[in-house]
Amino acid sequence: MTLRSYIGRMALAGVVAFICIITFFQDGDSSLVSSLPSIPRPNPSPSAPRKFASLRDRIQLSELSWKRTVSQRHQMISAMPNAVVKPWPKDWTEEPGNLVMWDYFPAAWSCPHDVQRVGRLGDGGKWVCGMSVYESLPAPASWTGSAGVPSGGQEGLVVYSFGINGDSSFEAELLERVPSARIWGFDFSVNGWGPQITSAVSQRTFFKKAGIGAKDEPHLTTNGPLYTLQSLMASNNHTYIDVLKIDVEGNEFKSLEAFMDHVRREWKHGGDGVLPIGQVMIEIHANEKYISFPNFRRWWERLEGMGMRATWIELNLLRVTLFQDPKPDCTEYVWVNAKDQQNKLWYE
Ligand SMILES: *[C@@H]1O[C@H](CO)[C@@H](O)[C@H](O)[C@H]1NC(C)=O
Repeated sequence: MTLRSYIGRMALAGVVAFICIITFFQDGDSSLVSSLPSIPRPNPSPSAPRKFASLRDRIQLSELSWKRTVSQRHQMISAMPNAVVKPWPKDWTEEPGNLVMWDYFPAAWSCPHDVQRVGRLGDGGKWVCGMSVYESLPAPASWTGSAGVPSGGQEGLVVYSFGINGDSSFEAELLERVPSARIWGFDFSVNGWGPQITSAVSQRTFFKKAGIGAKDEPHLTTNGPLYTLQSLMASNNHTYIDVLKIDVEGNEFKSLEAFMDHVRREWKHGGDGVLPIGQVMIEIHANEKYISFPNFRRWWERLEGMGMRATWIELNLLRVTLFQDPKPDCTEYVWVNAKDQQNKLWYE
């Protein structure tokens, strides 16, 4: 038996064993956890740092890991001839490292909690950092009386969802699992939620036939009306959003830019300059017809300056498979706001 076929057999045996384990524990059997050994640290030394002692320690590690990738990004970009990045290189000789667009922006800030996928498989489902933290929050007691669930105000988990387009599997699962969640949904191209929102949860949803924009355009009839995020929040008596889901076909750039302008203006008037949003699930459409690499980088780094950190990435390959575009320029990111003092993800 050659070394290669020996390795092949061992790999096959490993895969088979793995499949058996997966099959055995596919119900999320808790006996998996109790059967795992608790292994003492070899040669324990009292001075060894306890890396995962607390939530704060984990956040600090995430911040260090993220910072490392920011310096790498800056180094890579300045190493390019004239610092011009080709986000979709077609030739090995085109740039050092042959990075594609997304390689400059890795999801290096690891979520200090569980990361779960919520909603349907494929396009429409989203990854959530700290789903179990949200699930542990009770619904406000005032929601059960005759007054019902209020259509505005800050209590509970405030979720905004832009771009509905017939699929509400993410929103439905979030509402079913998180009793404190209320979701405000916006889309000018449809008349309401997708069929997944049942009557059991619909009293915690609020739909408006409108989109997110760089300014308020209430009279726009094609691809509108549009409102800024700050106007929509004000009309719902919100100063803070816990979870923002946004999939708006390229409009994410100028609408979030306008929101950052607003946060900057507030900063001058005593605000803290941090985005008042805890977590964002965003589908980014970095098509070259919407945005250039330098403008994308400016936008991204301004968001980082206001607290946002990429904690998860999933390429949306439909651009390639369905639309036959050779550039996978459509990507799902999850950002967590690391500077945010009110983030419910920091509940210990
Ligand atoms: C926002 O607050 C104002 C003043 O308290 C109230 O009149 C209005 O109904 C509230 N709007 C929502 C959507 O809760």
